[in-house]
Amino acid sequence: MVRVIAIFNVKGGVGKSTTTYNLGIGLARNNHQRVLLIDIDPQGNTGASLGIHVWELELQIKDLLQRKASLEEVILKTEQGVDLIPSNITLAEAEIPISGLPGRELLLKRAIAPLLDHYDYILIDCPPNIGVFAINALMASEEILVPVDMSYLGLIGISAINRTLEMVTTALDHSLTITGVLATRYDRRNNLSKEVFNSLGEYFGDRLLKTIIPETVKLREAPSFGQSIFDYDPKGRGAKAYQALVDEVTNQ
Ligand SMILES: Nc1ncnc2c1ncn2[C@@H]1O[C@H](COP(=O)(O)OP(=O)(O)OP(=O)(O)O)[C@@H](O)[C@H]1O
Ligand SMILES: [Mg+2]
Repeated sequence: MVRVIAIFNVKGGVGKSTTTYNLGIGLARNNHQRVLLIDIDPQGNTGASLGIHVWELELQIKDLLQRKASLEEVILKTEQGVDLIPSNITLAEAEIPISGLPGRELLLKRAIAPLLDHYDYILIDCPPNIGVFAINALMASEEILVPVDMSYLGLIGISAINRTLEMVTTALDHSLTITGVLATRYDRRNNLSKEVFNSLGEYFGDRLLKTIIPETVKLREAPSFGQSIFDYDPKGRGAKAYQALVDEVTNQ
């Protein structure tokens, strides 16, 4: 059975894209899962991190949502062993026309329905807001994985996440399982990281994942080489942490 997981947080810069592509590539390469990554953020960071020249794309998720392209036309097979439906900045220009389409919250869910038998995992990289694209990602997903960076603002962003989940479950009548809250950008030299991590544990209990993603230079550098952390620094702390995440998610 496929697991469709939205990687979501309304806060920017918490590691959503970093988690989407490293978790996806880890699942595909190390755990032999069939993985599709979907980038529904106009920043196009998932594709760019995989070394794809996203600004040159002729067809992308925007065209799929607007029914101007077929699934076959928008899915890219990547060298890293995952498939990808990419996006770029022109997705932002299409936000208003897409918001006016009938059934606008369900465009992605309906578009990817024929794919569900073809993959073990579909991971959706969300934009850092609660607009039509994030709602489409959440409505297309059964699960949500929430990266939270180890900052005070990261912690207070939790209430915005709760509000969004409430909106999706009540107003849009769609239930989501929480895969987990993932502590990211953890700096062991910094007391704030420990404090935020402890607060997340108190708040979320066992929904806080055991895996902790450290703040490392290698994780920051890897996208500029179009590589996952498993290629860029396979023996480092970042690769170990993302493999631990792969195992933790797989074992649920
Ligand atoms: N664990 C980490 N260690 C060091 N740098 C990191 C780590 N995680 C993410 N980064 C860097 O921080 C920046 C933001 O990360 P990322 O793009 O994954 O966040 P995001 O939540 O997807 O952001 P946005 O909300 O803008 O989409 C990037 O430059 C990324 O390389
Ligand atoms: Mg991102």
